[in-house]
Amino acid sequence: MAKIISLINQKGGVGKTTSAINLVTYLADAGKFVLLVDLDPQGNASSGLGIDTRNLKKSLYQAMISGEHPQDVITKIENFNCDIIPSSQDLAGAGVEIVHLDNREFRLYEVLRQIRTDYDYIIIDSPPSLGLLTINGLTASDEVIIPVQAEYYALEGLSQLLETINLVRENLQPELKVMGALMTMYDRRNRLARQVVREVRDHFPGYVFDSIIPRTVRLAEAPGFGKSILHFDAFSKGARAYKNLAKEILRMEGENKKFTI
Ligand SMILES: Nc1ncnc2c1ncn2[C@@H]1O[C@H](COP(=O)(O)OP(=O)(O)OP(=O)(O)O)[C@@H](O)[C@H]1O
Ligand SMILES: [Mg+2]
Repeated sequence: MAKIISLINQKGGVGKTTSAINLVTYLADAGKFVLLVDLDPQGNASSGLGIDTRNLKKSLYQAMISGEHPQDVITKIENFNCDIIPSSQDLAGAGVEIVHLDNREFRLYEVLRQIRTDYDYIIIDSPPSLGLLTINGLTASDEVIIPVQAEYYALEGLSQLLETINLVRENLQPELKVMGALMTMYDRRNRLARQVVREVRDHFPGYVFDSIIPRTVRLAEAPGFGKSILHFDAFSKGARAYKNLAKEILRMEGENKKFTI
């Protein structure tokens, strides 16, 4: 039975997609069966893994809206040893269409329920909003990871985000847990960044991952080549950081796994 984890933050550009792609590849590298679900109509997770989202015949939209079986929308990622349910632009309308459907908060839950036993981990990359798509992600999840950019406005919006998680817990998914906040784009030469990390540790009700993701050009370049950092530059600082994150998450499950690189 897969553990389902959503990466969420309604703030744009904080590293949700970068973290989703790289976490998925390191979990797969540790020998886990992993599925990445691209819940963002921007399709960044899909294109970042080399999928041409303009020419997709089937995507998450067909599974969530038209009731297509998830097996028919899953794509294997060559060289990555993991699967993805890609998204495309048509998902942008889904947020509105879902409003009129039955079980509107549980559309993704229903999709993933059918394939849950095929994987160890299902990682969901959410769009930068707290709309119905993100709510579907939360309802389908066991846990959430909140990527937080190590910059000045980082804490803004976090209380609204935690309130949304609470509402989902009270009304839709009582078992939903916050796994932790993940500091991203950290520049250790910057005093402000160090201060933000301290503040998040002080104020965040719950866990902040020990693994901190540095700001590095290599992490930003990799998606342009359709690659995760493991396949783009396995010995870079960014690669080490995401490997540590995967290790930390596996350790939380009581597992001590070996990676190939
Ligand atoms: N650690 C990092 N170092 C340098 N650049 C990064 C890092 N993480 C992400 N980026 C870059 O910052 C931009 C935003 O990152 P990303 O797309 O992962 O954020 P996001 O939260 O998914 O954004 P959105 O809210 O639009 O979905 C991208 O151009 C990405 O390549
Ligand atoms: Mg994104």
